[in-house]
Amino acid sequence: MKMIVCRDYAQMSRRAALHVVTAIANNPTAVLGFPTGDTPRGMYRELINLYNDCGLDFSGITVFNLDEYAGLAPNDPGSYRGYMLENLFRHVNIPVESTFCPDSLCEDAELECRRYEKLISESGGIDLMVLGIGVNGHIGFNEPGNDFIDCTHLVELAPETIAANSRFFPSMDMVPRRALSVGIGTIMRSRAILILASGAAKAEAVQKALQGPVTPGHPASILKMHPDVSWVLAEGAESKLIQHQPGRS
Ligand code: PGA
Repeated sequence: MKMIVCRDYAQMSRRAALHVVTAIANNPTAVLGFPTGDTPRGMYRELINLYNDCGLDFSGITVFNLDEYAGLAPNDPGSYRGYMLENLFRHVNIPVESTFCPDSLCEDAELECRRYEKLISESGGIDLMVLGIGVNGHIGFNEPGNDFIDCTHLVELAPETIAANSRFFPSMDMVPRRALSVGIGTIMRSRAILILASGAAKAEAVQKALQGPVTPGHPASILKMHPDVSWVLAEGAESKLIQHQPGRS
């Protein structure tokens, strides 16, 4: 496990973009898992700048979105497909047929989850999965619960997630209550994982993930079991980590 504490959000975004660029440089046909939310916006801006200024080539990569709200049309501004278009896809040379998101309007969620999981494995699996973390320790939309769920699945969003995401919608009533999300197994089968957290509001979730027990009650804690995880923290997300001093228990 690697952990980088950055000076500020801008530096975190640049470090994260560098990580993605390295993955693409090492493998121009890399399969990437990408998150939505506020945390990765700066990373996407940096990637767009690298495309415009340095010719970073996205033409060979494949992107799988981590999750999508159930029932929101892909052209709904609140949808994660819409977010990815706005924040990355329409600014760079990634072919639309190389970008995937769970189908939010599917009639049969179980079938759609199986289809999505199969698409990921048929693409050879995820080379680099980029994650944010929820205030309750969720990764993707894997909410705290009694079990780690392996594959892509339909999720009932936790009240704290609905509250946190209400800032993206005109009113609380309009926040979707359900989503399709890759599973913990989907994440853990990725060859490398990059997880970003910015802000003191994430400090407790980060501390529990890095220093607490591995438990489905705090889904991000499972990342301790992965051989190649990089945490990039900023703006106080690191502030609750307990410093172990040499010679003290
Ligand atoms: P945020 O969301 O980046 O908007 O804080 C992260 C998450 O909920 O996974």
